[in-house]
Amino acid sequence: MGSADEFIKLRCVSKEYATASALRGIDMVVEKGQWVSVVGPSGSGKSTLLNIMSGLDNPTSGQVVIDSTDITAMKEDEMARFRREKIGFVFQQSHLIPYLNAVENVMLAQYFHSIADEREAADSLERVGMGHRIDHKPSQLSGGEQQRICIARALINSPQILLADEPTGNLDRENTRKILELLNRLYSERQFTIILVTHDPFVAQWGRRTITMEDGKIIRDEYR
Ligand SMILES: Nc1ncnc2c1ncn2[C@@H]1O[C@H](COP(=O)(O)OP(=O)(O)OP(=O)(O)O)[C@@H](O)[C@H]1O
Ligand SMILES: [Mg+2]
Repeated sequence: MGSADEFIKLRCVSKEYATASALRGIDMVVEKGQWVSVVGPSGSGKSTLLNIMSGLDNPTSGQVVIDSTDITAMKEDEMARFRREKIGFVFQQSHLIPYLNAVENVMLAQYFHSIADEREAADSLERVGMGHRIDHKPSQLSGGEQQRICIARALINSPQILLADEPTGNLDRENTRKILELLNRLYSERQFTIILVTHDPFVAQWGRRTITMEDGKIIRDEYR
């Protein structure tokens, strides 16, 4: 086990594209159990940062260490296993499988991890207030309901880290508040580490720490 105060550590992480520098030498340390909001203008590198932390994307240079493991040195299959065991995702678009119902969508995440268990998947939907919608397909659910299912899916394998990229970006204020109350309740029950990207100051204030990015750099890092 790694040190809890350096649970996630980025060292001089850069991401260069032919036409743009998405990240310019990011240094960042996240403690275990922290809830960090990442804000900043469009194009400032927030999604790139999240994708690199999850190993979905590789930095051009620099190092990402999670729980004492250098993920930038991992082979693809090792990375896939590491991600399955440690990390849950929620995106702006729900990425639910359209022809599977709610409980089947959650079971799919279990299946990739170990063994699918319908009872456990149904329980996890119950915990996010979706127990009455387990046999609904995504097209039969509202945007807020779809995001609840995504949260159930992201947390079904008890990951230590939840990465969320604009999870409420498509929701109105009322549904945004409901999703954050839900996340907050699950967070206080299980104390996983949350890194949440958002444009919305209302959403950002749920974290105790806010990192502001601009032009591929961290320009502010504040605690409240
Ligand atoms: N595959 C790519 N090829 C070239 N440039 C890219 C690629 N992906 C991202 N970029 C550029 O990198 C920069 C950072 O992009 P990123 O998606 O991380 O921004 P963001 O902060 O998430 O923006 P938004 O708030 O709009 O989602 C942008 O200038 C973007 O155009
Ligand atoms: Mg983005």
